[in-house]
Amino acid sequence: MKSLTNINPIDTGRRDFIKHAGTLGTAGVLFSTFPWLQSCKEEEKMKVDKQKVKLAIIGTGSRGQYHMNNLLKMDHVEVVALCDNYAPNLSIASAIFPHARTFDDYHKLLECKDIQAVLIAAPLFAHAPLTIDALAAGKHVFCEKSMALTLDDCLAMYRAYKNSGKVLYIGQQRLFDTKYLKAMEMIHKGVLGDVCGVRSYWFRNNDWKRPVTSPDLEKQINWRLYKDLSGGLMTELATHQLQVGNWAMQMIPDKIMGTGSIVHWKDEREVYDNVSLIYSYANGVTMNYESLISNKFNGLEEQILGTKGTVELEKGRYYFDEAEPAPGIMQLINQIEHKVLDDVAFAGPSWVPETANVNKGFLIDENASTTSGSSSVGAVGDGSFELLEAFCTSAITGENAPNLVEEAYYSSVLALLGLQAIEEQRVITFPDAYKIPYLNFM
Ligand SMILES: NC(=O)c1ccc[n+]([C@@H]2O[C@H](COP(=O)([O-])OP(=O)(O)OC[C@H]3O[C@@H](n4cnc5c(N)ncnc54)[C@H](O)[C@@H]3O)[C@@H](O)[C@H]2O)c1
Repeated sequence: MKSLTNINPIDTGRRDFIKHAGTLGTAGVLFSTFPWLQSCKEEEKMKVDKQKVKLAIIGTGSRGQYHMNNLLKMDHVEVVALCDNYAPNLSIASAIFPHARTFDDYHKLLECKDIQAVLIAAPLFAHAPLTIDALAAGKHVFCEKSMALTLDDCLAMYRAYKNSGKVLYIGQQRLFDTKYLKAMEMIHKGVLGDVCGVRSYWFRNNDWKRPVTSPDLEKQINWRLYKDLSGGLMTELATHQLQVGNWAMQMIPDKIMGTGSIVHWKDEREVYDNVSLIYSYANGVTMNYESLISNKFNGLEEQILGTKGTVELEKGRYYFDEAEPAPGIMQLINQIEHKVLDDVAFAGPSWVPETANVNKGFLIDENASTTSGSSSVGAVGDGSFELLEAFCTSAITGENAPNLVEEAYYSSVLALLGLQAIEEQRVITFPDAYKIPYLNFM
């Protein structure tokens, strides 16, 4: 078995690392930690050599188009059909895949026997019916996050998947992002000590609205802003970051409390433009979550706080609480530029907090890309490509990505429980009825 000390997180590029994960998978090291990477293993790719999955896309709006542009660069897929009930988006999609059949009703599309798999990039409220119907029709499914708008629908999707024998992927791309994989290895190996806190936030400064040509189209286009169609910041942004917190903790929180309000964007919207929550784990650690869209000073981040140091996953950096890490730790992680940290400049009478965050820290992966988090479509190099490519492989082999749906399920459910805590102004205990077998939360 290859020892973790031999894994040099900076000596390989993004896709090489995932390949590397595959080879290690056979030895049970990385693969046992990140089992959803199974389809990235070289032997899995060899199984699908020269094969193409016949894929249909349902929902051809901005995220659907982002995926389409990635699909153009993939070998093991042929896009054979497109579906949207909003004609302008369908015609944009049709220009990208001119040979694909077009549908305005997904039921008709699901009747096509040649279609093996569907990619669902429709709004949240449509995820559960589309996914459940597609699985029932015998299709493999990739559905965008979050899973669903209600707890019952999340559970119904999970059960439909378990009963179907088909492949289901949910769009939690951080699970395929190299800098996250490397960081999680460090965290789980204890390089930063024991995890004693999680802080995540996503700040933007824009109204989150899209232009509409007629008032009749307001809800079709701006579905994110209405409570019967969307969970707002919690289901659109927080799901990604709650998943990261649980991944780092290897636990699911059991208590949730929070507040939310419309502070600035006082238009016809119904969803909060400002949320602040605490998720509490059974071992006493808390994950603090904040999001608002009327100030972007803080940007976006997931900070995993350890007793010896901190990881900032979005920036792809880690920091030790003491300025110079112990030599043993440096040897263990076998990486990084080995630069002595810059001296902190002390000048003038300002108060200097007792903090390590004035350090520049170390890059987790020097090849990794970072994003401002301001786009509602997605960023290049954030794991989305690898996630979808892995789905195409799985849809050919019929082999699922272990733990992927469970990670997505719990982040979706926790986002919804967060909303419930806000609405009901009380501390919510994770309800037993919505627990599924996973981690230590059976
Ligand atoms: N993983 C990520 O980072 C990421 C990024 C952006 C969006 N998303 C997710 O992708 C999904 C789509 O978001 P978007 O910004 O592309 O939305 P969008 O409004 O731009 O596009 C959704 C499309 O689905 C179509 N649609 C709605 N109901 C339909 C139905 N029943 N049948 C067929 N088509 C239907 C709409 O007409 C629209 O064209 C959302 O769930 C969102 O959360 C994920």
